[in-house]
Amino acid sequence: SAGASPSPTSAAAGGGTGRRSFDHWFGEKDRNGFIHRSWMRAQGFSDEVFDGRPVIGICNTWSELTPCNAHLRRLAESVKRGVWQAGGFPLEFPVMSLGETMLRPTAMLFRNLLSMDVEESLRGNPIDGAVLLTGCDKTTPGSIMGAASVDLPTLVVTGGPMLNGKFRGCDIGSGTAVWRFTQDVNAGRMTQEDYAAAESGMSRSNGHCMTMGTASTMACMAEALGLQLTGSAAIPAVDSRRYAIAQQAGQRIVQMVEEDLKPSDILTRDAFANAVRANAAIGGSTNAVIHLLAIAGRVGVDLTLDDMDEWARGVPWLVDLQPSGKYLMEDFYYAGGLPAVMREILPLLKADAITVTGKSIGDNVANTERTVDTEVIRAVGNPLGSGAGTAVLKGNLAPDGAVIKQSAASERLLQHRGKALVFSSIEEYDLAVDDPDLDVDADTVLVLQNSGPRGYPGMPEVGNMTIPRKLAEQGVEDMVRISDARMSGTAYGTVVLHVAPEAAVGGPLALVQTGDWIELDVPARTLHLDVPDEELAKRRAAWQSAPPPTQPADRGWARLYVNHVTQANQGCDLDFLIGRTGSAVARQSH
Ligand code: FES
Ligand code: MG
Repeated sequence: SAGASPSPTSAAAGGGTGRRSFDHWFGEKDRNGFIHRSWMRAQGFSDEVFDGRPVIGICNTWSELTPCNAHLRRLAESVKRGVWQAGGFPLEFPVMSLGETMLRPTAMLFRNLLSMDVEESLRGNPIDGAVLLTGCDKTTPGSIMGAASVDLPTLVVTGGPMLNGKFRGCDIGSGTAVWRFTQDVNAGRMTQEDYAAAESGMSRSNGHCMTMGTASTMACMAEALGLQLTGSAAIPAVDSRRYAIAQQAGQRIVQMVEEDLKPSDILTRDAFANAVRANAAIGGSTNAVIHLLAIAGRVGVDLTLDDMDEWARGVPWLVDLQPSGKYLMEDFYYAGGLPAVMREILPLLKADAITVTGKSIGDNVANTERTVDTEVIRAVGNPLGSGAGTAVLKGNLAPDGAVIKQSAASERLLQHRGKALVFSSIEEYDLAVDDPDLDVDADTVLVLQNSGPRGYPGMPEVGNMTIPRKLAEQGVEDMVRISDARMSGTAYGTVVLHVAPEAAVGGPLALVQTGDWIELDVPARTLHLDVPDEELAKRRAAWQSAPPPTQPADRGWARLYVNHVTQANQGCDLDFLIGRTGSAVARQSH
């Protein structure tokens, strides 16, 4: 049949085309080829799809349980148009979807599971190149991690942010306004009726959170790393230009297969330096730190917390978006989006880093428009702050590091000495938070243990503990909080996160007791527990004889996760997933 004829580019006489979908699936002349083609024909494809053209896997994290990704089926149709247009053969397939707002106990517990799904689906199927359709927080890094371990040509298309939230004539930001409204209700400044009414105004279109939370941040990271077409990150989910750029992405991935332009060509150390600097300029999420470390681990790029701290220093904070600032993603797009930011900080970037366009980041950015609104995207000469990105702290309380998002913190608390009030679980804290007799004042340092990758398990976003009610009623809006947890990219406050090693594996965080003095000095990058070493040694001995309770994880994914997850400073990947094995599969499908 014509279906089995080799493509014009085939070196068929002496072997294959070099195209895996053809050589190992659709171009085979034997029983296996019959099977591979025949069952595909059941979908009504014509003969040409088997002629050796690039097969593009459209890896879709669509799910109605991930509302942020609910429109990705439609976006996939636009990608397919582009793939057909460029002479490719698109095949869409589902992978695990992770929704921040529904999934218990935390979507982060499953990021690595998604990455495994993506990795095995890409490797095991007749796919020459991949488009990753992502949106909600974990879907972007999880998909990239999996694709990086296979290393076929890969292009990311994020789903885009929701339209700005609106409530009583004001713009309200996803997540950020929830934290604020909740605090206002606790302080008696907002009625329960208004609180309920704000729900529908906040989420009024398809798309991911429209603050500079983790989803928007990771969309920007995908673009800054060079994995997403220039100008893609900020386009609202419902803007027709989102669909147009998805079609372009479909065209471009076919060319990328012809050029054999792979993640390992793009995800260099320079690309990570660009991403970290872009994250400082946009005031992006602390979660990007963990995700970038994990992605770097997959491609074998040496990346440490110290690199990230050093790269972020001196980068001007330019983008005035919530939760650190004022505006939202719609405003960011209209102001020029990420290309305008990259253009501003170009002298700080590795401009030669190659991207999915086949050109360097410098070339991509040179051809874009300048900032349209300098209130939303500041000029380098008029920044919102300098070196206000995520700082890495070290000290006897966090020997392997901790992070703090400076732009989201209170200036006056960046150097602070206070007495610890310790909670061994978030549930314990939640029971105490409303207690009028809680022994706490505005200078107290709230400490939360056992909320790290192994301890929870899954490292939930609980690090921005609600201000205790009695203080909220007095008007206290921020306090120093320290934990081995993460916090939502939409959250804010003087919140020290990702303390490593975590309490559950015996990190010094486990040894803190109520009443201990803690010193935070962000300019000096230190986090110090003011307790003598001798005393800490005594506490450690006692801790070892009575380790903290953890969630049962005696079977299934949780067991695999708890036994193999790495600490926050290493990216919380599973230890055996670090690295890549490429796309080859020695055996036939049987
Ligand atoms: Fe999905 Fe925020 S909940 S992006
Ligand atoms: Mg989240």
